[in-house]
Amino acid sequence: MLASTTKGLLQRFINPRSCRREFKVAVVGASGGIGQPLSLLLKQNPLVGELSIHDMKNIKGVQADLSHICTSVQTNAYEDQELGDCLAGADVVVVPAGMPRKPGMTRDQLFEANAGVALRVACAVSESCPQALLAFVTNPINSIVPIAAELLKSKDAYDPRRLFGITTLDVVRASTFVGDFLNLNPRKVDLPVIGGHAGKTILPVFSQCCPSFQCQLEDIKRLTHRIQEAGTEVVIAKAGAGSATLSMAYAAARFVNSLLRGLNEEPDVMECAFVGYKSPCLPFFATPLVLSDKGIEKNLGLAASGRFRAGVPGANAARAGEEHTEGHRLCQREY
Ligand code: LMR
Repeated sequence: MLASTTKGLLQRFINPRSCRREFKVAVVGASGGIGQPLSLLLKQNPLVGELSIHDMKNIKGVQADLSHICTSVQTNAYEDQELGDCLAGADVVVVPAGMPRKPGMTRDQLFEANAGVALRVACAVSESCPQALLAFVTNPINSIVPIAAELLKSKDAYDPRRLFGITTLDVVRASTFVGDFLNLNPRKVDLPVIGGHAGKTILPVFSQCCPSFQCQLEDIKRLTHRIQEAGTEVVIAKAGAGSATLSMAYAAARFVNSLLRGLNEEPDVMECAFVGYKSPCLPFFATPLVLSDKGIEKNLGLAASGRFRAGVPGANAARAGEEHTEGHRLCQREY
């Protein structure tokens, strides 16, 4: 026993990556438009040991399909009343379940349809895996996260470090649109997006963009509007067939990967997400976070850390792009 502990410590000292752990991830709503591509991406994640998928129907077929993919991730499917079994022992629970928008709707209008789903999942988490990190994709994020927090509080299972609304798609879109604007690879653009996940609450912080760049105020207004309305752009383009699924799955998979890297004790893992915030007049807010084995290690607050400001002020964009810090690239590395 002692010998194996010493061996583990030695391995860690020699090669920290050799101590990689594998985690159980549960996806609730896994047979839906986001849930399926999200599960596909997680089936390929080397930090996932077990992928436990749940939905009200069609989940056995999704699991049979996923299980043929030649990765070592174990997949298990659970239907309807089996939510508790699905979640038991999960390290991370990610929730894409819920109704999508149709053209002309705001995210707020989904509250009635989706709040019950979120409450049911939060309740099951409090009973089956109260230590898990719980991350919602379900809209409206700005209201779903606060009601899930209230439910968890009522069960004495609320820890603000472990509850997240996933806003990574806003960050992904910001990188894409600014990358297009600067004619740069979007992976080299890091722009924190704070606030919330609906219309004007989506606030890209251009002053903290890496690389830093200068442009006309009109360009900033145009880029801000595009980032804020990008979800609606997809809803309109899909003409009644739902909202973003593929880009949302990509963003959620990136966020889950970052949560897992934090759980795996990798340093400097950063993402923006909508979480409990310390101010009484802003009880929930999306901010840049440092993630760790506790979930949120540090909330970097409204003024993001130096990592997000690593560009060279005044330098031309392409050159500043080359000077991206390693810490910056961490979140984008595998996705
Ligand atoms: C998005 O941003 O694409 C999602 O929140 C879905 C939506 O309704 O816009």
